[in-house]
Amino acid sequence: MTSQAKLEIRRSDATDAEDRALVDRIVAIVNAAYFWSEAEQWTDEKERTSTPEITDLLKSRKLLLAFASEQLAGVVKIEKIDPKTAGFGMLATDPNGLQRGVGKALVGAAEAWALAEGFGEMEIEIVRAENPNSHKQLLHDWYTRLNYIEIATFPIIERIPEIAPLQKQTCVSTVYRKLLS
Ligand SMILES: CC(C)(COP(=O)(O)OP(=O)(O)OC[C@H]1O[C@@H](n2cnc3c(N)ncnc32)[C@H](O)[C@@H]1OP(=O)(O)O)[C@@H](O)C(=O)NCCC(=O)NCCS
Repeated sequence: MTSQAKLEIRRSDATDAEDRALVDRIVAIVNAAYFWSEAEQWTDEKERTSTPEITDLLKSRKLLLAFASEQLAGVVKIEKIDPKTAGFGMLATDPNGLQRGVGKALVGAAEAWALAEGFGEMEIEIVRAENPNSHKQLLHDWYTRLNYIEIATFPIIERIPEIAPLQKQTCVSTVYRKLLS
């Protein structure tokens, strides 16, 4: 991707799940993004996603896909949390195309989707070590600029106990919410 390439974002559909090259590229981008940004958090066995998970998310239309020059540049998962609240997660930009506005465009698209669906709030989380690395600090600063407000922090094993053996150090999840309007 070049910085001039026009970005196109669309919601996934069932036909995407049959495109093996696309599925593989989504899995690769998501796993690479969380591998480099969470290296000190997890053992090398930890992978953020898998082919079956991405296939299911594509089929259930829960991914927004960003393309630049027809090449997948980034992805974000969208979901309903409760009748008033939407969420996004699994946000990932191709590591070769960082800092070109892909992440910002995907967050904007996720918020636009939530608004169009009638949700009043968006919820997100940052999973980090107790002492955040520079990327997690950057995320906190970015989401704060976007008006996300920290509402809770808890050890990640409270929600996902089976992740405990994969932790290299204690990891926590910080939940943020934003009122949409
Ligand atoms: C988070 C991530 C998706 C951002 O992707 P990106 O395409 O590089 O993001 P953008 O270029 O749109 O930048 C988003 C914001 O972060 C800032 N930013 C991004 N990288 C930065 C850096 N290295 N230094 C300073 N600011 C940076 C940008 O200035 C921008 O802020 P602004 O809109 O207020 O100017 C990407 O870094 C990534 O894949 N990270 C690993 C996975 C991850 O952390 N996901 C989020 C989990 S909550």
